[in-house]
Amino acid sequence: MFLSGKVACLGLLATASLGTAASPPLARRNETCQKTSVAILGAGLTGITAAQALSNQSVSDFIILEYNGDIGGRVAHTTFGADKHGKPYVVELGANWVQGLGSEGGPENPIWTLAKKWNISNTYSNYSSIQTFNASGYADYSQLLDDFEDYYATFEQDAGYILTENLQDRSVRSGLSLAGWKPKKNMEAQAVEWWEFDWEYAYSPEQSSQEFAVVNYNTTFYQWSDANNFVVDQRGFNAFIKGEASEFLAKNDSRLRLNTIVKDITYSDSGVTIYNKDGSCVDADYAICTFSVGVLQNDVVEFDPPLPDWKKEAIDSFSMGTYTKLFLQFPPDKVFWNTSYQFLLYASPTTRGYYPVWQSLDLDGFIPDSGILFVTVVQDQSYRVESQDDEQTKEEVLAVLREMYGPENVPVPTSFMYPRWSKEPWAFGSYSNWPPGTTLEMHQNLRANLDRLYFAGEATSPEYFGFLQAAYYEGKNAGSLIASCVKGNCTGEKNYDVLHGTTKSSEYTMANGWSVSSFLTWGF
Ligand SMILES: Cc1cc2nc3c(=O)[nH]c(=O)nc-3n(C[C@H](O)[C@H](O)[C@H](O)COP(=O)(O)OP(=O)(O)OC[C@H]3O[C@@H](n4cnc5c(N)ncnc54)[C@H](O)[C@@H]3O)c2cc1C
Ligand SMILES: *[C@@H]1O[C@H](CO)[C@@H](O)[C@H](O)[C@H]1NC(C)=O
Ligand SMILES: *[C@@H]1O[C@H](CO)[C@@H](O)[C@H](O)[C@H]1NC(C)=O
Ligand SMILES: *[C@@H]1O[C@H](CO)[C@@H](O)[C@H](O)[C@H]1NC(C)=O
Ligand SMILES: *[C@@H]1O[C@H](CO)[C@@H](O)[C@H](O)[C@H]1NC(C)=O
Ligand SMILES: *[C@@H]1O[C@H](CO)[C@@H](O)[C@H](O)[C@H]1NC(C)=O
Ligand SMILES: *[C@@H]1O[C@H](CO)[C@@H](O)[C@H](O)[C@H]1NC(C)=O
Ligand SMILES: *[C@@H]1O[C@H](CO)[C@@H](O)[C@H](O)[C@H]1NC(C)=O
Ligand SMILES: *[C@@H]1O[C@H](CO)[C@@H](O)[C@H](O)[C@H]1NC(C)=O
Ligand SMILES: *[C@@H]1O[C@H](CO)[C@@H](O)[C@H](O)[C@H]1NC(C)=O
Repeated sequence: MFLSGKVACLGLLATASLGTAASPPLARRNETCQKTSVAILGAGLTGITAAQALSNQSVSDFIILEYNGDIGGRVAHTTFGADKHGKPYVVELGANWVQGLGSEGGPENPIWTLAKKWNISNTYSNYSSIQTFNASGYADYSQLLDDFEDYYATFEQDAGYILTENLQDRSVRSGLSLAGWKPKKNMEAQAVEWWEFDWEYAYSPEQSSQEFAVVNYNTTFYQWSDANNFVVDQRGFNAFIKGEASEFLAKNDSRLRLNTIVKDITYSDSGVTIYNKDGSCVDADYAICTFSVGVLQNDVVEFDPPLPDWKKEAIDSFSMGTYTKLFLQFPPDKVFWNTSYQFLLYASPTTRGYYPVWQSLDLDGFIPDSGILFVTVVQDQSYRVESQDDEQTKEEVLAVLREMYGPENVPVPTSFMYPRWSKEPWAFGSYSNWPPGTTLEMHQNLRANLDRLYFAGEATSPEYFGFLQAAYYEGKNAGSLIASCVKGNCTGEKNYDVLHGTTKSSEYTMANGWSVSSFLTWGF
């Protein structure tokens, strides 16, 4: 095996290089590999946007390596169920909303700009169109939604003090409690809290940073608008990524190598060599790794030399959430839920996060007459359903619907399906999150380059993390940085060998990926 030989060999080299001022390049350029200026690892939104930024700056010598047979990454759809003519519907397994659109004369979310450009069909997601349930059926506890929002106003202000005063961060749970929101064992309050928090961040309040959860919310929703638009395009949401790619990649462009699994990345200050599972390799002057935090955390790609401690610590400090949509199709003439509502919220009497948020697609503007309903779970409940077979999960889901609507009213679904995001070897989860106590310095270490190997992705944006706009901006940034490098003006990114626990206000700059103030009042 070439890997074991190489590791041993590099170990010797690394020892030999200790103490030398300018360390010699560890990677020998491999003469047998395909040569390119820039290797882009991954063809998700980050990779495609990076390639576009390079193209825009006349750097056309790049190669994109992608695990899957298509571009788009976590913007992924599948066919599900069928209409009355037997034609399958298309539903989104991954990203589904454009989150934060834009305001008249104000700034606009680049994803919204692209969704409009490519005519992506979408509908305003009305978060006020919600009906509340408990295990006895319909039960109106919608007042709790307003209560939560009152406490949240204090909570988000407190997050602002933590940031500007450089105070110790804490969990969203502590922050909510201090603001006065204490759901305790009230399961209806817990369901409301799940809808307001876990459903967005794919983690519980205990597992999330107060400071950066609010930064994340503010930057998107107070900069652009608080609207979320749900995509129902039957070409799939990734039509906008394919559309953008078609403007600089030919249909059969040899620079896009699909079905290519990267196994090993050898980097140095003279270049980056990428070894693939199929035995092929690419020798690049620069590379951009766009793999998810889940992929990086699971050690499925080997780095030579091994990642330095500051990079490893950063990778293991952030978290990868899992968000699972479970789809059901019922006979359209037997729809039993009230189609005046977009959302249904269920409070399990025993288990927080147990099939809490339901969405009907059988509505005007969505997929009318489809009989499709889906329910979302995250985190522990995602891992639980992922480890079960479909039949067992379907029985659980139907049992909840029978509590909500009465057993006699729930027919047998004609289709049932859900993805298993945390088991996908090219994603290992859905999107990233910041645990309590994380800092901007720590995050910058996730983002910073290692010699000629750059990192970009949804997770490397300190403000938009999780959202598509994060992938867009970070791809654009990395592509532009490297275009400059190729032209001979190369600037590396900052990293911190020693972390300081909190972050001074003077560090909230572009050098640390901070591109816009999170203290925004637009949209009010
Ligand atoms: C269930 C779910 C719901 C979401 N909902 C929303 C939403 O509503 N709105 C929103 O804005 N965002 C949402 N997101 C987040 C959004 O999808 C991501 O932020 C974005 O797609 C990330 O893009 P990326 O290019 O950084 O990463 P990716 O899309 O993961 O791209 C990385 C690429 O690298 C490839 N790759 C990985 N490993 C290898 C390897 N070893 N070799 C070769 N290639 C490899 C992958 O196949 C992938 O194509 C959601 C995500 C999920 C999963
Ligand atoms: C060069 O790449 C080939 C093909 O992947 C591989 O077999 C060989 O071991 C590599 N050589 C070095 C020195 O890494
Ligand atoms: C590339 O250039 C086009 C045309 O000017 C522009 O619309 C697009 O936003 C640019 N893309 C990036 C990633 O810079
Ligand atoms: C989007 O729709 C408009 C109006 O129907 C049409 O003029 C335009 O060509 C479409 N654009 C794309 C990219 O499909
Ligand atoms: C959202 O739903 C609420 C409750 O049904 C309704 O009062 C409101 O008009 C809706 N808003 C929009 C923009 O459709
Ligand atoms: C559901 O709510 C109703 C009305 O508040 C209440 O009477 C009932 O006991 C609740 N059921 C459960 C299981 O909590
Ligand atoms: C978020 O926005 C609110 C409302 O404008 C503001 O009070 C708060 O300080 C902001 N918090 C952060 C962390 O930006
Ligand atoms: C790619 O497509 C173009 C135009 O359709 C064609 O001229 C070219 O021969 C194709 N190249 C390959 C390698 O198939
Ligand atoms: C559905 O909900 C609406 C709004 O609350 C209500 O007016 C209507 O009667 C309900 N329909 C049924 C069939 O329960
Ligand atoms: C080199 O790049 C840096 C950072 O992008 C920029 O500030 C500087 O103006 C560039 N210098 C030249 C000569 O282009």
